[in-house]
Amino acid sequence: AKSLPLRNKKILITAGPTYEAIDPVRFIGNHSSGKMGYALAESAAKAGAKVILISGPTHLQHPGFGIELIRVQSAQQMYDAANTHFDEMDAAIASAAVSDYRPKNVAAQKIKKNSVNLTLELERNPDILASLGKRKKDQVLVGFALETENERKNALGKLERKSLDFIVLNSLNDEGAGFQKDTNKICILFKSGIKKDFPLKSKKEVSKDIINELTLLLNE
Ligand code: C5P
Repeated sequence: AKSLPLRNKKILITAGPTYEAIDPVRFIGNHSSGKMGYALAESAAKAGAKVILISGPTHLQHPGFGIELIRVQSAQQMYDAANTHFDEMDAAIASAAVSDYRPKNVAAQKIKKNSVNLTLELERNPDILASLGKRKKDQVLVGFALETENERKNALGKLERKSLDFIVLNSLNDEGAGFQKDTNKICILFKSGIKKDFPLKSKKEVSKDIINELTLLLNE
């Protein structure tokens, strides 16, 4: 049906921050609210898709009908969940703000303030989106990039390295875009080299634009 352009399509979406444990009560995290990813899940489900939403810790409600919500804490857990489901998917959108590093050793007990300075050793987390890029067969793969400098060049590098079909670029230089906000201003760069600019909109409206572009590629 025209009103359900994503009927029979399965879409995996990652959303929110990740929390990387330091000890039983502390973690390293970031300010991602999860709003963009949850809005994407809702828009995809409204277009008829079956959605698997893999979410880090957020304050958001389950976004509704047609969405299987898998809650995780750490990047490793998000990586495992994404790789478990990816092969059966038609598309994946990585909107999560994944922590690049995690504490190398997680203390079994709460760390005491015994010394003036404390050094935490960090190790790299796996890149979830890059792992899906390596694994992909005919899935459409979408990533996000939040850059503070050389935006176009960095985003195009990610598009290549992670085998994406398109990348959604949002700039911290734009008023109203980014973390915790209800609005976003995006630019989409396609594998084909085409670039589309969108005006400042609510994250709900932005999610519709992104799902539209995804729908066009899936029905090509
Ligand atoms: O390389 P960078 O972190 O800027 O790439 C951002 C994109 O990669 C986003 O789509 C993000 O969700 C994804 N990503 C990921 N796993 C990571 C780091 C980033 O899926 N460990």
